[in-house]
Amino acid sequence: MSLAGPLVDFCGRVHTDLRISVTDRCNIRCYYCMPPEGVRFLSHHDILTYEEIERFVLVAARLGIRKLRITGGEPLVRKGVPHLVEKLVGLHGVEEVALTTNGILLRRLAGDLRTAGLNRLNVSLDTLDREKFRRITQFDELPRVLEGIEAAQKAGFAVIKLNTLAIRGMCEDDVVPLARFARDNGLHLRFIEFMPVGGRRVWGSDQVLPGDEILEILSREIGPLDAVETAGPYAPATEYEFRDGGGRIGVIRSVTEPFCDQCNRLRLTADGKLQNCLFSPDTWDARAVLRSGATQRRLAQLIQIAVSTKRKARGTDTGDFAPAERSMHQIGG
Ligand code: 5AD
Ligand code: SF4
Repeated sequence: MSLAGPLVDFCGRVHTDLRISVTDRCNIRCYYCMPPEGVRFLSHHDILTYEEIERFVLVAARLGIRKLRITGGEPLVRKGVPHLVEKLVGLHGVEEVALTTNGILLRRLAGDLRTAGLNRLNVSLDTLDREKFRRITQFDELPRVLEGIEAAQKAGFAVIKLNTLAIRGMCEDDVVPLARFARDNGLHLRFIEFMPVGGRRVWGSDQVLPGDEILEILSREIGPLDAVETAGPYAPATEYEFRDGGGRIGVIRSVTEPFCDQCNRLRLTADGKLQNCLFSPDTWDARAVLRSGATQRRLAQLIQIAVSTKRKARGTDTGDFAPAERSMHQIGG
């Protein structure tokens, strides 16, 4: 085993992206993400320290990881995230650090995140209706989210993406208001098909609102959309632009057109488990390696094994598919 990359799996996928969950906690409680009760959160000792995350990324970057995304739970409920960003941005080989947040704490932290060098910011937002937001999340925090988005724009983030979960029966009425809001405010809106995470508790294939239906609603109600070239072969979103020039819409067809064959991601959970797929029940215990005083080589080996055993696909189309039992807040979006 060497300390050199790239991280190529048996079907030729080159792994350059790592999603890092820094906490499984959250300041709201979206029904599709966290069970209403009985959630046991990790203790302080269970979660990786920032120093451990840095040591992990140092090795991962030597193996060819270039892009990092910080997730949660809600990452910003953990203290000192701007400090972590600053450290990660400075690591050799790291080209981009992004963060996915629900936006609630952005009013306070957007400036610090920008100063720390954060490159990209995604804000999850399912509705602009305050009462509906409360129903989905159990908290009346929509006004703070909107203030947070404004603060992020003022802090100078050039592209802010809004992520909307496309769930049938929840999302349809919000498609048009969200698109108008994004157009009016220079935000980039993306719809993500509801993926089978959280066991059979919430997910059902009938609850997936396909990307094509969203595009139909938008072109009927707002105006025609044209497909545009995307950022590269690994971008999971298909991008569209309103023909009148008024903004961009992304659709992530994670269910109707799974992008397993282009997947270049690894995930590190808050408690230091390395996972090669959102739907994989297998994990590799990076925390144990980090805390055992093992060498960088040993850690590199763990990462290489996680990549080399990645399955070709875990699409909902295969017979043995089962929704991931853990909830989204435990894996990190
Ligand atoms: N499928 C797709 N996206 C999901 N998210 C939460 N659960 C799911 C799911 N089952 C999204 C949230 C948020 C991000 C952290 O993950 O909407 O944007
Ligand atoms: Fe929190 Fe995000 Fe899960 Fe909603 S989806 S409960 S904002 S971690």
